[in-house]
Amino acid sequence: MYRDHTCGELRIGNVGQIVTLAGWVQRSRKLGGMTFIDLRDRYGITQLVVEADAAAELVDVATSLGREYVIQAVGEVVERQSKNPKMPTGDIEIKLQRIHILNKSVTPPFTIEDESDGGEDLRAKYRYLDLRRRPLQRALALRHRIAQEVRNYLDGQGFMEIETPYLIKSTPEGARDFVVPSRMNPGQFYALPQSPQTFKQLLMVAGFDRYMQIVRCFRDEDLRADRQPEFTQIDCEMSFVEQEDVLNMFEGMMRTLFKNVLDVDIPNPLPRMNWFDAMDRYGSDKPDIRFGMTIHEITPLAQGKGFGVFDTAKYVGGICVPGAADYSRKQLDELTEWVKRPQVGAKGLIYIKFNEDGTVKSSVDKFFSPEDLWKIGEALEAKKGDLALILSGDSSRKVQTMLGVLRLEMGSRLGLRDPKVFAPLWIVDFPLFEWDEEENRWNAMHHPFTAPKPEHLDWYLSDKQEDIAKVCANAYDFVLNGNELGGGSIRIHDAKIQQRIFEILGFSQEEAEYKFGFLIHAFQYGAPPHGGLAFGFDRVCALFGGCDSIRDYIAFPKNNQGRDVMIESPSKIDQIQLDELEIELRKPEQESLPRSPRHP
Ligand code: AMO
Repeated sequence: MYRDHTCGELRIGNVGQIVTLAGWVQRSRKLGGMTFIDLRDRYGITQLVVEADAAAELVDVATSLGREYVIQAVGEVVERQSKNPKMPTGDIEIKLQRIHILNKSVTPPFTIEDESDGGEDLRAKYRYLDLRRRPLQRALALRHRIAQEVRNYLDGQGFMEIETPYLIKSTPEGARDFVVPSRMNPGQFYALPQSPQTFKQLLMVAGFDRYMQIVRCFRDEDLRADRQPEFTQIDCEMSFVEQEDVLNMFEGMMRTLFKNVLDVDIPNPLPRMNWFDAMDRYGSDKPDIRFGMTIHEITPLAQGKGFGVFDTAKYVGGICVPGAADYSRKQLDELTEWVKRPQVGAKGLIYIKFNEDGTVKSSVDKFFSPEDLWKIGEALEAKKGDLALILSGDSSRKVQTMLGVLRLEMGSRLGLRDPKVFAPLWIVDFPLFEWDEEENRWNAMHHPFTAPKPEHLDWYLSDKQEDIAKVCANAYDFVLNGNELGGGSIRIHDAKIQQRIFEILGFSQEEAEYKFGFLIHAFQYGAPPHGGLAFGFDRVCALFGGCDSIRDYIAFPKNNQGRDVMIESPSKIDQIQLDELEIELRKPEQESLPRSPRHP
């Protein structure tokens, strides 16, 4: 037996016991003839001590230990003279009798402690060493815990976990597919699933009623802190349900997760906001409602005073930043530059300071009287001491979106976005379609199988673009602290409606048949009414852990270029493989590896 205890479990009550531990040497140091070793495993750290008068052989081994050596240590649990209240094992230490070196380690490229001295790239290259650090161990333990809670809850509700294939045909989630060539079908490609959407709907046709899967999805899209090319969904589908049933079921799941994992009570019922309100008031379909500072339109108040920028705008709107009237000229200039960054895209920023003494000062004093400015202030719900920030432009949605970004920035600057505060809500009543200006056509906002609201029948049967723009969907997103954690919809189960939606989306009948024929055919055999949703599992884990970036909650993530720098992937493949797949690269001599014998 290599060990009878872990490095995280010994306490004062174990004093006097002879124990055997195994783990990694976090560090060792000499102090007045004694050698202290911090031994680490995933459960914690225990201090080992070799007394000055210990056998010479033992002292020799103890002093020869390098960082990250794997050792087995036998000794007696003794009470420490100087206790460490920060460590769960800090009351005791192990007075060593024997050490076996199980394996040596070369010097690691960075320190394996809570705060490492290694940069991000270096740690990514040696991810297996980074994963030894406690913050990452905790993150993966949290992930495991959440997965267990999800399975427990859904199992209790009668959901069956069913695996769906990874080598499939393009799925309709709107990102690019990762494709896999087929050797047995030269010139043809599988697509990796962007989600199991079509399969879970087929499972409903098959009668599996309540399906769930914690499943890997693949999307070839630009990466950000909350996006990975392969990520995991908690994917679910239910039959014989309406939107209300789905929302209740998954509100219940999230409430259970918050309670059992974080001991946090979330509101019951959760707030719901319709998509249009979210866009108008928060400039985002994933509003962070931990703080106010909502957007207000002030177009009528801003126009007709001779300020050309406002007079020619279609929309003028603003937010009120509480207590920020004392912003200096320099701070306002910096903020103006900030909104001009491409990520925000504003042309300029107008401010009004509502000073504590009742005076007002703005960048448009030439055009607006103090009374005019206070009227704007009232519309923005400003009080003395507040700062109004105003943007304008020729599209209300664009300006609202910019104000939404500015609002989040001001919320962060004012410390109003505490990751330990959780403000979940549902966004409902999404538009079914969104206009793609570049391609000059309608896209499905969620996906093409999302059901229009039955009461909008006349609109989606209409030929008028303005009617089509008004059609809303039985679609919903679960939003937490400004992040989209999950989304779903009630699906179309009527072949005629599906055909009409494909028509609006510009799919010809042949195209729809080619892409989704299998689903359309299946729907002819008694498809039950159904709906579902999927949560981004990595995002749930990261936000529960108090972090915006999902990378630390994935054991082996990709970097921002979609690369795994540890295994150096993606990488070239050799000519034999290319030949077998009948794939010819544009520049074969540069792009592929030379012929080499096949690996077993
Ligand atoms: P959707 O595309 O909204 O819906 O995805 C569901 C959730 O998955 C997460 N997510 C991601 N997480 C990390 N990296 C990514 N690249 C990434 N892309 C999406 C988000 C998102 O809310 N089939 C539908 C669900 C349904 O209708 O049932 C779907 O996939 O948290």
